[in-house]
Amino acid sequence: MSQRSCLSVILAAGEGTRMKSALPKVLHQIAGLPMVAHVVKAAEAAGAGSQALVIGHGADEMRKAASKFAPKAETFVQEKRLGTAHAVLAARDAISKGYNDILVMFGDTPLIDADALTVARLKLAEGAAVVVIGFRPPNPTGYGRLIEKGGKLIAVREEKDCSAEERKIGFCNAGMMAVAGSQALTLLDAVGNKNAKGEYYLTDIVEIASGQGLDVVATEASFESALGINNRAELAQAEGIWQARRRHEAMLSGVTLIAPETVYFSHDTEIGADTIVEPNVWFGPGVKIATGAKIHAFSHFEGATIASNCEVGPFARLRPGADLRNKAKVGNFCEVKKATIEEGAKVNHLTYIGDARVGAGANIGAGAITCNYDGYSKFFTDIGEGAFVGSNSSLVAPVSIGKRGYIASGSVITESVPDDALAFGRARQKTIPGKAKELRERFASAAAAKKKAAGADH
Ligand code: UD1
Ligand code: CA
Repeated sequence: MSQRSCLSVILAAGEGTRMKSALPKVLHQIAGLPMVAHVVKAAEAAGAGSQALVIGHGADEMRKAASKFAPKAETFVQEKRLGTAHAVLAARDAISKGYNDILVMFGDTPLIDADALTVARLKLAEGAAVVVIGFRPPNPTGYGRLIEKGGKLIAVREEKDCSAEERKIGFCNAGMMAVAGSQALTLLDAVGNKNAKGEYYLTDIVEIASGQGLDVVATEASFESALGINNRAELAQAEGIWQARRRHEAMLSGVTLIAPETVYFSHDTEIGADTIVEPNVWFGPGVKIATGAKIHAFSHFEGATIASNCEVGPFARLRPGADLRNKAKVGNFCEVKKATIEEGAKVNHLTYIGDARVGAGANIGAGAITCNYDGYSKFFTDIGEGAFVGSNSSLVAPVSIGKRGYIASGSVITESVPDDALAFGRARQKTIPGKAKELRERFASAAAAKKKAAGADH
């Protein structure tokens, strides 16, 4: 199969009015990735080495987005939306390059799995000219029905063009098709628009091919994998299905999820075996976790790297560039951004570490923070190996604390501290014996005098 060349043509010209959005429908995200990018990924996984994206509505935005998620894809603009066959023909220049297999897919069907596409390609390899991926939705209303005769697929009839009898058929067109590259343009050029909607239907190539005696086949995919997204309720439904699949995969790969339905992954989350994830954890894009980490409840991650045997949370926030080395600890109500927490270092309570390095084995006390920003620029804080930063200290960057340096609690540190030094950056304490009693008496008599004066006013 790998010798067979394959082009995927992904239709994404539609407006998606039911999303009620300024953003083109297929750019709405599932697991942090535009839904059309999921389609591209599935096509690639099924061996489509080339991609053609048919765009129309929001073309500039689509091109810009595509340059990120599918930099090699060619884009084709369908100026007028005259139907799915017309849309595929917008990519005529790509199709005519001569591929063995053409996969036609919809940009709004993000859950399609590569297996369904691979099965369809295998049918082409066996000699089929057209393969329709079918499915059995709980309610077939609105879908094209697969019309079979003598065990052969002879047509796909759109709902609006179906007879009452045909409407009873439960086996429907999921929307995806595989077409032999050698036949594709001839078949597509033969499609007309004499139907209830006056559109050029891609599905008509089934009847045309079958009429020419070509081999036409239907395969079956799961309802879930063929779910098309038209509104935000369906978007949420697809997200739910995607998350459920990913959680299952994570658990089978050795990750413990105590309450799987409360853990959210991104399309690119990497998480190693023997990691334990407590309830209510959010993995935003760009998170990598090695093995044996403990992720406590209510933690939020984005662009963070967590090495083996780290412990994070509860209620921790790791932002882009957080880089935790082996056995590092980031505890409750801590935020880490663009900072390395080296081996065995501890940032355990109520701290902000941004634009910094915390050396191996260092300990950052409760409430200590790096003051990394002056309102205009960001500055770096370097904390040496084995340093101890006392509670509620402010490290005003740029500043460095030497190896094994010791910062007294409550210090405001504005000057660098050498190795093994102790630094105080706070006012010295003054204690006056008996003064509290005197103070109380003074305050009490002042309050009594005020009350008396108010009474005299009446
Ligand atoms: C299509 C199928 C139907 C199938 C259903 C599955 C046809 C004729 N019908 O119907 O058999 O059961 O999908 O969901 O193919 N598009 C363009 N340009 C156009 C028209 C459509 O890019 O001119 C894109 C749309 O943006 C969309 C996709 O093609 O992503 C499908 O078009 P849509 O109009 O939604 O087709 P359905 O009526 O749902
Ligand atoms: Ca549709």
